[in-house]
Amino acid sequence: MRLQKFLAHAGIASRRKSEELILQGQIKVNGSIVTELGSKVNPKEDVVTYKDRIVSKPEDKVYYMLNKPVGYVTTVKDEKDRKTVLDLLSSVEERIYPVGRLDADTSGLLLLTNDGDLTYLITHPKHEVEKTYIAQVDGVPGNKQLRQFREGLIIDNRKTSRAKIKILSTSKNKATLSITITEGRNRQVRRMCAAIGTPVLKLKRISIGNIKLNNLEKGQYRELTKSEIHYLKSL
Ligand code: URA
Repeated sequence: MRLQKFLAHAGIASRRKSEELILQGQIKVNGSIVTELGSKVNPKEDVVTYKDRIVSKPEDKVYYMLNKPVGYVTTVKDEKDRKTVLDLLSSVEERIYPVGRLDADTSGLLLLTNDGDLTYLITHPKHEVEKTYIAQVDGVPGNKQLRQFREGLIIDNRKTSRAKIKILSTSKNKATLSITITEGRNRQVRRMCAAIGTPVLKLKRISIGNIKLNNLEKGQYRELTKSEIHYLKSL
């Protein structure tokens, strides 16, 4: 990569201004001043400094999905020292962070990336990305409750957006539901289920838009495919 491009990518200055810095002899590569504009650097190996500070390498954008087990928090650092989802991706070198949140007691699909633009796209309610959950609940909702759930319930003095809910199976006064919401309020699914009188016993997220957890094992992660990344960016 050309030195001026490296500097611009790292956010030091514009490409033009970076060229000036090089010409002025302000940039060192591996300890030696470089004033030639065509100079190439290898971002993985060469140490570039400006004003004697290391210019950190521009990070590639990376995208992962994790099947989050229950018991892990989605924050990057936990003040109570609980296990965080990043402990499960410790071999990833880039500084990634979770896209949105899942409660510690919720399992399933979590995306992680270092791409802030994509995080914004997926988490902002105005983009209405559908998130689907499988919920085991105590009790079996009747038609009236299902209608209330779909039309919106008052949580935090504000009505929830339209949601989808379907009974997948029932047994011994418990039900397994498929629930799809487009918002991401705190403990939203749990609070919506409680509001119709059927509290959640177990909750798992299985999809975000078209991105599906499928058979990824609990605690395992994988990189997203090119087409999954392309799809998310098109949202
Ligand atoms: N809704 C919840 O109640 N919890 C989650 O973790 C996600 C959605």
